[in-house]
Amino acid sequence: MVLARLAEIADGPLSAASAMPPEMYHSVEILELEQQRLFSRDWVSPGLAAEIPEPGDYLTWSIANQPVFCIRGRDNQVRTLSNVCRHRMMQLLEGSGNSKRIICPYHAWSYDLDGRLAAANHMEETDGFDKADHCLPGIRTEVWNGWIYVTLNPEAPPVAELLQPLEELVGRYGIADYVPVHRADTVWDTNWKFLTENFMEGYHLPVTHWSTLGTWMPMDSVVFPDRRHQAFTYQLFEKDERSRYGRAHPDNTSLEDRWRNTTVMPTVFPSHMYILAPDHLWYLSLRPRGTSQVDLRFGIAVAPEQYASLEDPGAWVEELVAFFGDVCEEDRLVVEGIQRGSGSPLAEPGPLSWLEHELQDLMGYLVSRLT
Ligand code: FES
Ligand SMILES: [Fe+2]
Repeated sequence: MVLARLAEIADGPLSAASAMPPEMYHSVEILELEQQRLFSRDWVSPGLAAEIPEPGDYLTWSIANQPVFCIRGRDNQVRTLSNVCRHRMMQLLEGSGNSKRIICPYHAWSYDLDGRLAAANHMEETDGFDKADHCLPGIRTEVWNGWIYVTLNPEAPPVAELLQPLEELVGRYGIADYVPVHRADTVWDTNWKFLTENFMEGYHLPVTHWSTLGTWMPMDSVVFPDRRHQAFTYQLFEKDERSRYGRAHPDNTSLEDRWRNTTVMPTVFPSHMYILAPDHLWYLSLRPRGTSQVDLRFGIAVAPEQYASLEDPGAWVEELVAFFGDVCEEDRLVVEGIQRGSGSPLAEPGPLSWLEHELQDLMGYLVSRLT
């Protein structure tokens, strides 16, 4: 079956590897397994803790069809709660915002920021009704290097343990101090793995992105991890003076030597990817929406000294967001095109290049979880 074929590709040398079999992207059974064994069990990230800086700030997400929201409490803790009312199961919050109380839009049961039911109108005649019995269930949440991570799995190892080998690379940038400037949610017509793979490989950059960032990519500086990790993969590359973004601001005194030009691109399996540069951060979180659609969230944050130096932050950010918007549109066209192409009768996966190293890492992760 397809997973046995996937294991062969994942376990062989990269020089003999091919792209994943089309069935991996089109099979409803595979999607079902992914929801159960990846999205319900591993850590996913709805965004940065700095995106909800004040008590009552929240943002919504969904984990394997479970709607949730991350909210900052009066005690400054970031919590994640089920986004489903304990009365007749209405979804409580949409999008993002600030709320001093979470009030259900249906019959106005209202919850405190920690999920306790604070008020429920006209429930006094209901036998044995006790507000304490109807709190919103909490979802396991950890903040690591500025990221909010959540999981439905009480048994999952702590994020800091899983990502410990990434700490040395990522920790030096101080993500928690980056200033969030943009977030957008959208839906693309492609399988979630086509988008993950696209984000992970630099092979397409000079071609797909020739008019935006393609010409700045010094391919000879790309470095991959020297062994396969269970929970993540990454690549590093350096930007030179041709690059519009990606180098440390002169006021940045924490990054040294080549790190001032180095970008780290981690993918935390299954669905959290980011481009972490000395001056900015661009992230992508995704979740499947059937086999042929994906919900995705893009976020952008700016390094603090870069942000502080801007004379007109609004205009600078607008330009940055427009630039990444163009890059996204270039990616959307290709990942939607692969979705259509890979479903055709003559579609057959071809051999990979060395720059597609991380595709094989993703296959290794999938094999380890799905089989
Ligand atoms: S469903 Fe929420 S108050 Fe009725
Ligand atoms: Fe791309």
